[in-house]
Amino acid sequence: MREIAISDLTGLRYLPDYFDRSGQEALLEEIRQIVARAPLYQPVMPKTGKPFSVRMSNCGQLGWVSDINGYRYQPEHPGTRQPWPDIPDVLTSLWQDLAPEAPEPEACLINFYEPTARMGLHQDRDEQTFDAPVISVSLGDTATFRVGGLNRKDPTRSFRLQSGDVVVLGGDARLAFHGVDRILKNSSTLLKNGGRINLTLRRVTKP
Ligand code: SIN
Ligand code: FE2
Repeated sequence: MREIAISDLTGLRYLPDYFDRSGQEALLEEIRQIVARAPLYQPVMPKTGKPFSVRMSNCGQLGWVSDINGYRYQPEHPGTRQPWPDIPDVLTSLWQDLAPEAPEPEACLINFYEPTARMGLHQDRDEQTFDAPVISVSLGDTATFRVGGLNRKDPTRSFRLQSGDVVVLGGDARLAFHGVDRILKNSSTLLKNGGRINLTLRRVTKP
């Protein structure tokens, strides 16, 4: 496993090429089966109702959703009202590998980025515990990922996340601000029609 240091936050881990091409293809097939049952939908921002540029779905006991009323975790898909599909074994193994001490993940947010989509700088703080890390997997087109510190105004830096790369936001980096500046169109051949998938595994409740 290759690891590259990004900042002085020791809990921020960047693991390029964690999944090789065949691992990416296998994971993509799992995600295809999940979104066949729990279709991607376009969430809107609380209060303003402005649509996200990213489409979303989830797997796991809980899924992260955003609508006019706010951000929250809930056990069912907002459209189908069915429980989210299970987290695939390959992702629970990833969690075991990188966060063996942490309680099992309860949610995996699936973000789909068209080449024009972005995600503004934010913290992942809708969970009831910050003891477990957030573990992210990138598939498809490369993204420019931006990460800063614990305050919005802290200096940030950006680096590219390619298909198969994994990032861990844990420990002192669990609440680091982060976002996606842009997607590099046609930078990967993994997704037939282009775009990027990002998966983030989270523990939501206190064990
Ligand atoms: C997120 O913060 O939910 C997504 C990050 C990413 O797409 O890499
Ligand atoms: Fe996030």
